[in-house]
Formats: sequence, structure tokens, C-alpha cells
Amino acid sequence: MSASRDSLAAYVDALEARHRADLSFSEVRRALQALSSLYVERRGRLRSGAALAGAGKRAAFALYYGPIHLLLVRKIVRTLGPGRRPPGEIIDLGCGTGTAGAAWATECRPAARVRGVDLSSWAVAEAGWTYRRLGLRGRAVRGDATSTPLPKRGAGVIAAFTLNELGEDARRLLLPRLLDVHGTGSIVLVVEPLSRRVSPWWPEWAAAFLAAGGRVDEWRLPATLPEATLALGKAASLDTRELLGRSLALGFA
Ligand SMILES: C[S@@+](CC[C@H](N)C(=O)[O-])C[C@H]1O[C@@H](n2cnc3c(N)ncnc32)[C@H](O)[C@@H]1O
Repeated sequence: MSASRDSLAAYVDALEARHRADLSFSEVRRALQALSSLYVERRGRLRSGAALAGAGKRAAFALYYGPIHLLLVRKIVRTLGPGRRPPGEIIDLGCGTGTAGAAWATECRPAARVRGVDLSSWAVAEAGWTYRRLGLRGRAVRGDATSTPLPKRGAGVIAAFTLNELGEDARRLLLPRLLDVHGTGSIVLVVEPLSRRVSPWWPEWAAAFLAAGGRVDEWRLPATLPEATLALGKAASLDTRELLGRSLALGFA
């Protein structure tokens, strides 16, 4: 088993101890089903923060989607390569529990610092815990992904599974900011679900990234999930066989 698998397994064990102390497996399984239904069928409630409301859904997000997003982003970043100049800092917009930005930061040599930004104070606390647990320098702060200051150069900016939760106007404001940040020497990565229904704006964003010299990819990768993540996903009848997503990238090649 490789060192990175060991550290992911240890991270998931620590997550279990953190989030399962007061919740049974069935309670988290039911919460995961409710959460995935929110993401797929009841999306109208996402903007009010419904996904991360309540201990069950928070535990389900941390224990299931967190590790999956870590694995997917790690694989994407490995495949896209280190970029011309590996970033010294990763800004994670809508960081949630912090795993997407952490996955990229740990792939940098030397490991990058991370700055997570999220509207949810619960997410901010969890992301801080994730960075410490994974041995990364960095911190998370409460803020709005659409207006948080972005560094001018030498950084990586990631928005993983966040843009589909923004309103149309907010998302429109963010696109030129991400293109500008690349123009001044930073690397940008957007990751979203494959579903067209979830991200109907994708073609417009993909065209803008391509016009700026970026790349657009779809990912269907065999998943080797940590045992606890796999057990939870299977119990909730989710498809645990593949890591699925699509990405827009600027500045990697
Ligand atoms: C589906 S989660 C993804 C979390 C994380 N990026 C990941 O890949 O696991 C979406 C996150 O975006 C956050 N979010 C939604 N709108 C936001 C905004 N305008 N500014 C900052 N965070 C926001 C939510 O609080 C939530 O933590």
C-alpha cells in the first residue's frame, strides 16, 4: 500500500472518530441518502445551505463526499501535471471540508499552503481540521467565493463542486475573475459533476476556458475507496464503482 493510501485511510479513520461518535451507521446512511437527493432532485434548497444543515448531513458529507472529492481531484491534478510553476498557495473556493484544495496542495512539491473560503462556518472549521490532519499549512475563512480576493500570481485557484451552488449572477461575476487570475500567472481548476442538469452553464464556461488556452476534460475513473467510505456509499445505494466528474483547467500544461 502506498504512503498516500495510508494517509487517506488514516484520515478517514479520524473522520469516523470525529463524526460517528454520536451517530449510528444507519443515521449517517439515511442522512447521505437525503443529501444525495438534495444534490440531484431537490436542488432548489441548496442555496439556503440545506446541504450542510444538521449533524447527520454534515457527517455524511464529511465521510462520503469529502474523501471522494479528495480522490477525484488528486487524480485530476496528477493527470494534468504540475504546471509550468507549481503553486505555492491553493485558494479553495467553497472549500467544504477542505479535501479538494488539500488534494491539490499535497500534490505540489513542496506542498502548497491552502486557503479555504466558504460561506458555512461549519465547513470552515472542518476544512481547518482537514488541513491539520493532512499535515498541510493553511487555514479556512468564512467568505463568499464570488468576491474573496484572489492572488495575482503563483497560486492555484480551485472551485470543486461549488459553482453549481451559486446563483446565475454570482457565477457570471466569477468567470472573468478566474480568467484574469490565470492571465496574471496563476493556475485555475474547476471541477463539477458530469450531470448536464446540474451545470447547464458548462458549455459557456468550457468555451471561455478553451479560448483562454485551457482544457476541458471528463473523468470516469475506477474508484478504490477507503473501506468506510465504500461501506457507506453502498449502504446508501450510491454508485461507488467510479469517480465521476468534469473539469476546466487553465495553466497546467
Ligand atoms: C458541494 S460542496 C463542495 C465542497 C468542496 N469544494 C468539495 O469539493 O468537497 C459546496 C460548498 O460550497 C459552499 N458555497 C456555496 N456557495 C458559496 C459561496 N457563494 N461562497 C463560498 N462558499 C459557498 C457551500 O457552503 C459548500 O461547502
